[in-house]
Amino acid sequence: MPENRKKTVSYEDAIEVKVRGGTGYTIYPEDSFADLPLRMEEDLQSSSSRVCVVTDSNVGKLYLEEVMGKLQGSCKELTSYTIPAGEEHKNLDEIRSLYVHLIESGFDRRDILVALGGGVTGDMTGFAAATYMRGIRFVQIPTTLLSMVDSSIGGKTGVDFDSYKNMVGAFHQPSMVYLNPNTLHTLDDVQFASGMGEVLKHGLIRDSGYYEWCLDNMGGIEERDNDVLREMVVRSILIKRAVVQRDPFEKGERALLNFGHTAGHAIEKLMNFSLAHGECVNLGVVAASYISWKRGNISEEIFYEIRDMSVAFGLPITYDSLNPENILETMKKDKKMIGGTMRMILLKRLGSAYIDETVSDDEILEALRFIRYEG
Ligand code: GLY
Repeated sequence: MPENRKKTVSYEDAIEVKVRGGTGYTIYPEDSFADLPLRMEEDLQSSSSRVCVVTDSNVGKLYLEEVMGKLQGSCKELTSYTIPAGEEHKNLDEIRSLYVHLIESGFDRRDILVALGGGVTGDMTGFAAATYMRGIRFVQIPTTLLSMVDSSIGGKTGVDFDSYKNMVGAFHQPSMVYLNPNTLHTLDDVQFASGMGEVLKHGLIRDSGYYEWCLDNMGGIEERDNDVLREMVVRSILIKRAVVQRDPFEKGERALLNFGHTAGHAIEKLMNFSLAHGECVNLGVVAASYISWKRGNISEEIFYEIRDMSVAFGLPITYDSLNPENILETMKKDKKMIGGTMRMILLKRLGSAYIDETVSDDEILEALRFIRYEG
């Protein structure tokens, strides 16, 4: 392993997540799906549970057969359910169809759902698990970078509603997260870059050392070197774990994870989800970093580093087809508005963020105009 790729932190193989007032759960970063039955043993309660593996039409083609093969024989009954791939299917109609499948398959409170896929599959499966018979257990098997480092951890589940992103949902913790970073090799470049948007965000808001590590290891990340990916994923998970353990229900600190999301969600919605989530988040990160620079929190040099380094990870830093006024208007309709006040996450410095409720329309418009590509 080259010098600059050496592990800079020691990390355990299994990552325990404590849940206040609950039993907590374990995240297992593995190298294959081989240990899935072993890791699920406790959940399967001596084979007395039914299992439904929920996946989407893309991931299902790649990994469903393998995962079903691993679980076969270790549970009372094994079924699968495939959701059509894409954010446009993250809605209550699809959840309804999944409920029908569960009812017809005789699922009850002892049974368990397995989410095999990216953030949309994890959020939807978690939401179905949170609400079916007032709550059943579910396991996350994230197969995208974004779902490994972000959405599979912390118990946020839900669906979009009338193009309002994640407007309907519930907090429902998984009983286990099993991730196999080898699945990142089948991820297309856009989805990989989208996950990098959340990875870099974790460094920017909590850990400048991790952010710099990502920049230093850019080559290994781009090549998807297994050791580099594993360390990157595990370190990102440790940042997310620290935040969600302290503030599971987003009463305070957890909102920092929404860095870049206020503008990002508005852009995502106005672009009709044609840009990937992490790509939109990166546009929001650049806008929020611009405001942080203009307020004197970070230097001009750091602002340009944040903006330009993200390009190297395949992320967009400009948009051209939208109007800044429309983005602002859409931001004001987002659920991150608290009592009519716009809430933005800004940087205090590299590696540290805070919640700000004083950002004016003019500051936001200036930032949105700055990142608009004028040709
Ligand atoms: N993705 C942000 C959070 O889990 O709070």
